[in-house]
Amino acid sequence: RIASLIGAPTDVGAGARGASMGPEALRVAGLQPALESHGLTVLDRGNLSGPANPWQPPEDGYRHLREVVEWNRRVRDAVAAELALGHLPILMGGDHCLAVGSISAVARHCADTGRKLRVLWLDAHADFNTSALTPSGNVHGMPVACLFGFGPEALTQLANMPAGSPALRTEQIRQIGIRSVDPGEKRFVHAQGLEVFDMRFIDEVGMRQTMERALDGVDANTHLHVSFDVDFLDPDIAPGVGTTIPGGPTYREAQLCMEMVADCGQLASLDIMELNPALDVRNKTALLAVDLVESLFGKSTLMRTRPA
Ligand code: ARG
Ligand code: MN
Ligand code: MN
Ligand code: MN
Repeated sequence: RIASLIGAPTDVGAGARGASMGPEALRVAGLQPALESHGLTVLDRGNLSGPANPWQPPEDGYRHLREVVEWNRRVRDAVAAELALGHLPILMGGDHCLAVGSISAVARHCADTGRKLRVLWLDAHADFNTSALTPSGNVHGMPVACLFGFGPEALTQLANMPAGSPALRTEQIRQIGIRSVDPGEKRFVHAQGLEVFDMRFIDEVGMRQTMERALDGVDANTHLHVSFDVDFLDPDIAPGVGTTIPGGPTYREAQLCMEMVADCGQLASLDIMELNPALDVRNKTALLAVDLVESLFGKSTLMRTRPA
């Protein structure tokens, strides 16, 4: 299997500067050799380039919309090119607004190749805001809504399928680890019927059953996309993100989550987002992300997966 690393060094969609340094921090933390140690052939495609972060207040409810759209166009095209080659794209963010480009490329690829799509959204946040609901105007709080067709026209047009329908439907996505949803966003998540395994769910049923449910229905014809916002993790173990929310998955819970994705054998594309080296401590969050990504690609302690 060939994996392609794509760096998207920008923080145009974020509320703090620094996620633009995420791709290099992942390289420094050894992402490529870690993947190679699990049998993947890895091509590092280098970094995309795009507009600078103008660091302006919101206009009509969005910050930096023009720049966000341009970055997403480049991400979408780069991810689509790797999928067309049969490679497994790994997007190194960059802030989470770029999931619009990445997941819309994946959705088109699935439509073209007749595969079912399942997206696992690992995040502290639902990222389901619109300009009317957002408290910040930061587009990294809106990518899931945009993929559902709710958002600024420039971005939803970029995300939509060629026939004009939204890239994602409710039954294709599961959110895991959610613990911070804005008041209006909460109503919208409910109205759209999103399947959310929030922290309370994980507390009550455990990560094992959570993942069994989140992966239910994934079969040999499913393209599984993981969109990993590093703020999914508890800030005690992962301080290097711009929007920390306490009470996230522990190291063991996160490992089990990744291992169960590996066990299902269908992982076909990945985003590693929101890593912010400016807020990190000796690159420990990047090292942790690499460690977890190894589990996502099949690292296990012994030569077995599930307990007997
Ligand atoms: N809900 C907040 C907002 O919309 C925070 C979003 C954080 N998103 C992220 N990808 N870190 O501003
Ligand atoms: Mn394919
Ligand atoms: Mn988040
Ligand atoms: Mn996010």
